[in-house]
Amino acid sequence: MLNVDQSRAIFGYGVPLPVDRCVCHNRTFAELQHIAKAENLDHAALSARTGCSAKCGTCGPYIRLMYKCGATRFPVLSQADFVRLLGDGGERRGV
Ligand code: FES
Repeated sequence: MLNVDQSRAIFGYGVPLPVDRCVCHNRTFAELQHIAKAENLDHAALSARTGCSAKCGTCGPYIRLMYKCGATRFPVLSQADFVRLLGDGGERRGV
């Protein structure tokens, strides 16, 4: 888990990291990361396997960040944050 200094360095927020799961399917990002590594799944395959990213889609850009940097807890991020971190607006649905 990232500490406050690591969070500030990566995300620009040195605050608690309350975003830790896909709420539609009640799967933590830590659990999703474990599944992805154990089964060698990319984001699309992980979404097909768990449903995460495929319902409301709010978790999708966070899961993309999970793949990018390895973190499993995040601050609440804005679209501008996703542009900075992912290079796009962090599409909400799909992968
Ligand atoms: S929060 Fe993951 S699909 Fe809704």
